[in-house]
Amino acid sequence: MSSLAVLHASQLVTLSGPKRPRVGIELSSLGIIRNGGMLIRDGKIEKIGPSDEIEKNVGDAEIVDARGRVVMPGFVDAHTHLVFAGNRLDDFERRSRGEMYEQIAKAGGGIWSTVGKTRAASESDLLAQVKMHANWFLRCGTTTVEAKSGYGLTVEDELRILRVIRQLTAPASGSAADTIRDSRIASKQAIGLDRLDRETALEIVPTFLGAHAVPREVAPEEYIELIITEMLPRVTAEKLAEFCDVFCERGYFNIDQSRKILCEAKKLGLNLRGHVDQLTNSGGAKLMAEVDATTADHLEQTDEDGIAALRKANVQPVLLPGSVYALGSNRYPRARDMIEAGLAVVLATDFNPGSSPTTSMPMILSLACTQMKMSPAEAITASTLNAAYSLNRGDKIGSLERGKLANFAIFDCQDYRELAYWFGMPQTEAVYVRGERAL
Ligand code: NIG
Ligand code: FE
Repeated sequence: MSSLAVLHASQLVTLSGPKRPRVGIELSSLGIIRNGGMLIRDGKIEKIGPSDEIEKNVGDAEIVDARGRVVMPGFVDAHTHLVFAGNRLDDFERRSRGEMYEQIAKAGGGIWSTVGKTRAASESDLLAQVKMHANWFLRCGTTTVEAKSGYGLTVEDELRILRVIRQLTAPASGSAADTIRDSRIASKQAIGLDRLDRETALEIVPTFLGAHAVPREVAPEEYIELIITEMLPRVTAEKLAEFCDVFCERGYFNIDQSRKILCEAKKLGLNLRGHVDQLTNSGGAKLMAEVDATTADHLEQTDEDGIAALRKANVQPVLLPGSVYALGSNRYPRARDMIEAGLAVVLATDFNPGSSPTTSMPMILSLACTQMKMSPAEAITASTLNAAYSLNRGDKIGSLERGKLANFAIFDCQDYRELAYWFGMPQTEAVYVRGERAL
């Protein structure tokens, strides 16, 4: 049995509290233990409290001395496009000259250009690039990400992206020690761990986003038919995704088309997320409420009616200020109105090559505080525990509490507010996933 004792955190940010997403004033309650510590056994938190209490129970545990730094749950990034090939430097440069996202997409850039590069990438090049992305997340203190497909847009290319995600979290193959590893995996699984020898320590939750754009070679209705009759059944038969997402936007999928896809996905047992009201207010938030989605993401253009609909249907808003910033816009979603309405707000990076090329949750915290007037504490809750609930994992990750997975980060600062305050500066000192050092 492996055990670890984390000692002397200046602030151990536990987020302990009710076992549900946090709303209103609860978003500000971080459950901080000063000079805190925790005892970890077999990847899970066994004991958490003042450091001197933990020290009495250390036994033969390996000691991790936080030396007066902040220790908190690893960030949970609930909206990323982890798998793609190449970059969009040309789009970026065009935007720097004042061109707009939709204009660049029409001129041959945009999602479609990444689809071309992703389809053309070899298996090994794609995997290598995605492993690099995964490592960038760990370096920013993130331990779990949601990852969408959406840069394939054919049956085989979409499945390939989801299989890359699966491959990343499955035990690495091809080593000479297969048998030994298999038996170690078996024993790890017996104690509820399956991380051994994986391609990355990052935990990944897969989402099917076949409806990211209509491929150039197919008519819209024909493509929607393909999603419904071929993609969704194969994705669910192979258990390649937990969620289904759509890009509901002018020039992509309209409300009726989005509803059709989401309802089919739901029938097949997938939970729902959606890119809605990003560039135009098309009533996307209301649609997500109507289909009983888990989350409604973006919401830059959502008005009071949309917010009220989300509240009524208990849909979590996932706010993505990185994409507003990187697109050079100043229309941020109305976070304060959403918090006042009692929504369990989530913050995420929207990591993707077009509109949000960042894996940095601290940067997102900075934007949330400066541009959307969330407090640092609210932003931390939105990017850890609330995000975990939005991925149906609130019982396992997102806070540091007895029985939860020991997914945590040590940051090189003394006060959690520094994470949002010192922007664009690396502060990650160490990252642990299931009690094992990942960075
Ligand atoms: O979340 N809005 C749609 N999808 C991404 C952008 C993807 C891209 O430009 O490649 C987003 O912003
Ligand atoms: Fe996105």
